[in-house]
Amino acid sequence: MTMKIRYIDLFAGIGGFRVAANNVFKKHKIASECVFSSEIDEFAQKMYMANFGEKPFGDISQINGDIPQHDILFAGFPCQPFSIIGNGKGFEDIRGTLFFEIVRILRYTKPKAFILENVKRLKSHQDGYTFKKICGALRKLGYWIDYKVLNALDYGLPQKRERIFIIGYFKPVNFTWPPKKPKMKPLDKILEKNVDKKYFASSRIINKRKSQHKSQHNPSIWHENKAGNICSYPYSCALRAGASHNYLLVNGERRLTPREMLRLQGFPNKFKIVVPDSQARKQAGNAVPVNVVQAVLESFAPILKNDLSKKP
Ligand SMILES: C[S@@+](CC[C@H](N)C(=O)[O-])C[C@H]1O[C@@H](n2cnc3c(N)ncnc32)[C@H](O)[C@@H]1O
Repeated sequence: MTMKIRYIDLFAGIGGFRVAANNVFKKHKIASECVFSSEIDEFAQKMYMANFGEKPFGDISQINGDIPQHDILFAGFPCQPFSIIGNGKGFEDIRGTLFFEIVRILRYTKPKAFILENVKRLKSHQDGYTFKKICGALRKLGYWIDYKVLNALDYGLPQKRERIFIIGYFKPVNFTWPPKKPKMKPLDKILEKNVDKKYFASSRIINKRKSQHKSQHNPSIWHENKAGNICSYPYSCALRAGASHNYLLVNGERRLTPREMLRLQGFPNKFKIVVPDSQARKQAGNAVPVNVVQAVLESFAPILKNDLSKKP
């Protein structure tokens, strides 16, 4: 019997996990199939449909018992309750409880493995209480788990984006987190030429930025922090779904285009963009960096391949 990995894509957004899974399984010559996806936002559903030919199921809390059997569950669950930007309410915030939808689904579908992703702050939120609760809930289901904060900058992308990855397996396993890559893609391979003037900040903003800061890098992405201080790097700071308009400016002058933002997250150039810019910005800010998931899956693939090939 030929081996096939079946997986599900929860809180799918525009499918960062799916792009990564398709790439890695293809590379390892493992047949794979996404057997279920869920995403509540209609614009993200539209992007997902355009790129994967499938409209994800809507609100995950409304699904009962209809999720097909699968080997891996992927979920970058909503991070607003835990991020620095959010109000820090965690589990008191209703969105925080969406994690328990994952627990509910793991309990009745019992996949062999899962990979979850969230903001780095999940670990320290409420002095570690929230994270302890999350790990406890996953272990109670019988999973061996491990976690690590990984930075997209260390996996080839010119974006400083630190995210926590939690992996789970149905039995203890000798898993090694992926080694860092020595080089990142240079910014000039990400940036578009001849960018439409609508992406440029007003001359007032540009002049203000340039009076505040001189960059050591070219090209560079200028970042404005919460206190209004400006710094610039030969890479981008983390893309954010709800950031102010001029939070990141290329060379202190213009906003990133949707294509550039998707490239900063590791999406291929052929990835179709079928939504207005404002939605694309939100989606790119919410997405998981494809290269990081790929690196994690690369380390995981041999373990999965070995176990799944024993399947009757
Ligand atoms: C952090 S983003 C995940 C993005 C995804 N990993 C990607 O690569 O694009 C979380 C997603 O969960 C979705 N979401 C929030 N509540 C949901 C619900 N109740 N059911 C399904 N999706 C939901 C949001 O619309 C958002 O797109």
